[in-house]
Amino acid sequence: MFQDKKILLAVTGSIAAYKSILLTRLLVKAGAEVKIVMTPAARDFVSPLTLSTLSRNPVVMDLASNESWSNHVQLGRWADIMVIAPLSCNTLAKMAHGLCDNMLLATYLSATCPVVIAPAMDEDMWHHPTTKANLQKLESFGNKIIPVGRGELASGLYGDGRMAEPEAIVQFIQEHFFLKQDLAGKKALVTAGPTYEPIDPVRFIGNHSSGKMGLAIAEELAKRGASVHLVLGPSAVHTDIPGIKVHRVQTAEQMYEACMKEFATAGIAVMSAAVADYTPAVTEPEKIKKSSGSITVELTKTKDILKALGQEKRKGQLLVGFALETTNEKEYALGKLASKNADIIVLNSLNDEGAGFGYDTNKITIFERSGNEIPYERKPKQQVAHDIVDRIVNMLYAQ
Ligand code: CTP
Repeated sequence: MFQDKKILLAVTGSIAAYKSILLTRLLVKAGAEVKIVMTPAARDFVSPLTLSTLSRNPVVMDLASNESWSNHVQLGRWADIMVIAPLSCNTLAKMAHGLCDNMLLATYLSATCPVVIAPAMDEDMWHHPTTKANLQKLESFGNKIIPVGRGELASGLYGDGRMAEPEAIVQFIQEHFFLKQDLAGKKALVTAGPTYEPIDPVRFIGNHSSGKMGLAIAEELAKRGASVHLVLGPSAVHTDIPGIKVHRVQTAEQMYEACMKEFATAGIAVMSAAVADYTPAVTEPEKIKKSSGSITVELTKTKDILKALGQEKRKGQLLVGFALETTNEKEYALGKLASKNADIIVLNSLNDEGAGFGYDTNKITIFERSGNEIPYERKPKQQVAHDIVDRIVNMLYAQ
């Protein structure tokens, strides 16, 4: 994710400094070269030895020590990005006013790279007008602010002021600075959510799909530059990411119509909706009244959208389907790859904990036309979407 990126992590004196340990690990794991600068106060909360071990670089703390002088200009020029996490109230105030009484501040003042801050403080400090004014000043300097979270604070109080979690900081950096626009100029079609097949004006046949996975894929495609058409079944999810045009539909037939219309001009299609396979043969115009005996609802087959797109697919178009299975997962996934003429099938198994309908996480295996089979760990759906889009891009540019 951060291969060849140079990240300067700056740690100030706050109880949230303990999170800088995990943040360092995540950044290094993502492929970044990490250097760390700390304020003297940060040493009371986290050991420089821990951070230098994890970052595989010496931690810089003092402007001068034992007749040697640390070159703060070099450090600020070396970095692709400077991340100040946690940012204490004290250092925030100093940054806003140009004070320079330690190595971290000297580096900040001389940094030529973008600066991102992750503030951490108690709720009352966070809401103080001075803090707000100082943050506005930093924003006016072009520094990016990672929003604080709400929750338990070191004081024992509950409220705003918690530093963003390390995973969220990594995601923020990626989205704001290192995201490749590798799908610029491409049109993508995505389906998401369930479909509702009406029995009468008040009843329908539906399923538990939340639409979260499809939405995450649509957002990831849009962030990477694609113009996205999201055909969304009845679902509570919504997006405000520019670059996504949402087509709201209710039934499998409506989803089919919308997809057939958009597919001709799309380069990528990802069918993640849980489309009903059957629909009532007749939708009663009036509510069906209770009777003494049982009733039968005759169902007819819906159109298989993925299969229809597979038949229409031209050279250069890339088609991705999902398979949600409970048994013989690999066999069924490979069967769908072939029978629907898809290029990629994303398998998620309902047997995996934390995967599938309603969860915020998912665990997938990707099967590709070329024979590749790639299993992934359980991850938040946003990261799963990132993995899927990475494979799409890989295949698109290998064509
Ligand atoms: N799909 C579709 N149109 C349908 C049914 C499914 O486009 N009428 C798509 C789904 O969006 C998914 C893929 O086909 O990408 C596989 O869906 P799934 O429900 O797992 O498989 P089915 O083809 O419906 O087969 P089965 O239910 O027998 O597993």
